[in-house]
Amino acid sequence: MTSKICVLGSINMDVAVRVDRFPQAGETITGLACEFMPGGKGANQAIAAANMGVTVDLIGSLGDDEFGKLLRNHLVASGVNTDAVVQTESSSGTAIVMVNGEGNNQIVVIPGSNTLLQRKTIDEYLDRQGSAVRYLVSQFEVPLDLVSYAFGKAKSLRATTVLNPSPMQVIPPELIEQTDLFVLNALELAQVVGLANFICSPDEAAQMAFRWQQKIGQKTVVVTLGENGLAAVHGDQVIKQPSQKVDHVEDTTGAGDCFCGCLVAFLHNGYSFNESLALAQKAAAYSVQRKGASPSFPRLESLGINETKGKTS
Ligand code: RIB
Repeated sequence: MTSKICVLGSINMDVAVRVDRFPQAGETITGLACEFMPGGKGANQAIAAANMGVTVDLIGSLGDDEFGKLLRNHLVASGVNTDAVVQTESSSGTAIVMVNGEGNNQIVVIPGSNTLLQRKTIDEYLDRQGSAVRYLVSQFEVPLDLVSYAFGKAKSLRATTVLNPSPMQVIPPELIEQTDLFVLNALELAQVVGLANFICSPDEAAQMAFRWQQKIGQKTVVVTLGENGLAAVHGDQVIKQPSQKVDHVEDTTGAGDCFCGCLVAFLHNGYSFNESLALAQKAAAYSVQRKGASPSFPRLESLGINETKGKTS
């Protein structure tokens, strides 16, 4: 069987609203535009990886509504296998995404069918796939106990587990134990280590990631810092990389998902850790210059990459 990446995660319809600035509490403002766009951290990461030419399966749950149909069609058209995406008698997940003039966003997620995912879907999928799953990637928009369960099972199949703990919740010790690679942003790192202050310089983030890694064991920790680049701790290596320069920032929605999905795709395709980080940064930089989450993600050719280079079987 072809080796693949499996993403266990959310699928949402993003109600993307453009505003000049975010409203204050109690304030009504006039928006500039409203569009329905495919989103959800799981779906976004799956599409980012599929765009890089990798075989990607998604485990998720859609509602039995119009959004469910549209979202499944978008996933299939993007090259993501949806055999393990179940349909439940409920509404599909939605997210209200406000994007301001600087391209920054505020997001409210209404989980809907994402919470109805069940163990048996994970069991059926992993029992069928066995060791074909080289990487299992997840986030926190599906029930956390399912993420722990799937990671435990994936580890017994020798898969590499990748956790993007977003939106942040307390990470159970057994899930930390079962995770090989953490991909999180500076705010999430501050939350995970119990800091009130937002870490933003690469030096501070690298220090904090290193200290956290010393506490949790030999894990790889990647911290994305937006325009400040990234910091990572990988084995004994502490890495700091500046961001890729962009002409203008249109919309940062899903940039973290683009980074995470592409990072795993490049690792899967045999690029070194440092090369994968740099290429994933390039992909995220591409995405922030365009509207929406997955509709803004690059394909291999947009990154100027030869499709066959570094690819594993
Ligand atoms: O990370 C961006 C995503 O977060 C959006 O697409 C939205 O659906 C929420 O899941």
